[in-house]
Amino acid sequence: MKSLMVQGAKILATGSAIPSSKLSNHQMSKIVETSDEWIFTRTGIKERRLLEGADQSLIDLAVSASKKALNKITMDPSKIDLIILATSSPNDLFGSASKIQCQIGATNAVAFDLTAACSGFVLGLVTASQFLQNNTYSNILVIGADVLSKWVDWSDRSTCILFGDAAGAALLQSCSIVDNSILNFQLNTDGNYAQHLSINYGKERLVHPHLNLYQGSFKYIYMNGKEVYKFAVFQVPLSILKCLHSSNISIEEVDWLLLHQANERILNAIREKLSISSDKIISNLRNYGNTSAASIPLALDETIQEGKILRNDLIVIAGFGAGLTWGTIIIRW
Ligand code: UT7
Repeated sequence: MKSLMVQGAKILATGSAIPSSKLSNHQMSKIVETSDEWIFTRTGIKERRLLEGADQSLIDLAVSASKKALNKITMDPSKIDLIILATSSPNDLFGSASKIQCQIGATNAVAFDLTAACSGFVLGLVTASQFLQNNTYSNILVIGADVLSKWVDWSDRSTCILFGDAAGAALLQSCSIVDNSILNFQLNTDGNYAQHLSINYGKERLVHPHLNLYQGSFKYIYMNGKEVYKFAVFQVPLSILKCLHSSNISIEEVDWLLLHQANERILNAIREKLSISSDKIISNLRNYGNTSAASIPLALDETIQEGKILRNDLIVIAGFGAGLTWGTIIIRW
């Protein structure tokens, strides 16, 4: 990582939000031909939370997660300079961040969406840390939120069983360089594999025959699970090792490994490749499934609330997903 660091960056508080409606594996077996046994042994998932009806939206979840983070430190929302909403399922293709800015009363914040699927929160944290460490902004809210239940093909059992809806938020603040806690990052993209995980735009309807004018809509999630699985287990440990190495940090110094919550078998394979003990891995996908950009901040917030993460703990966070994009960020708590 080459960056001009004139001041440090730290995470002040986190928050998360999940819909109240649960869908168990058993209920899932009434929608597609599957079983609790198959889903649990292949993925580690038992249930997921889903947005209900037309009343709730991604924005409600993101606002709720953000308010919880703000309330933990009683920060006046007008002090926020920037809001980054990492999502691939906005309410509005032009972006949903501005609606969150308005609803939480962050009147002085500029707000934008960042699209990087399941790696979105990691990229959001890295982006925020750059603005803080180069002294552009003082307070930044990073949100990871997704409602992929709206985008799955509910007749495709290989994908619809995986995803759930949630949001997580982290408030970051600039600090002196000695207190800097965002230590390093390592990011990658390989568009050669983009076709393995996508929600593609489909050219569908001829609008004007003489002008050859078409108008379409987005399709549902397509995933080649096997390819994405192999990619994650191969590339994510390399990214983590590169990031640790360039920070002069050894594997033994890592207190917590927080990976994108995609599949328990992926988490374990990566952990084993890195020779990290199982008590250091953060995992909650049993209860929520894969919540895409929300998975890392949701798991982080829960682990903090459980009082497990202690001051000075070293947390290695890695995201991976569509793009394909993957990356690591190292945080000293
Ligand atoms: O967040 C983005 C990153 N995403 C990921 O990291 C996902 C990575 N991939 C995976 O987690 C796994 O590949 C899956 C969980 C998606 C699938 O697990 P798998 O062990 O790779 O299963 P598979 O696709 O090889 O399918 C094995 C069998 C197939 O049947 P045949 O062809 O062997 O007869 C599937 O048709 O399991 C069948 N199958 C199912 N059976 C019951 C696929 N989905 C289901 C299902 N229930 N839900």
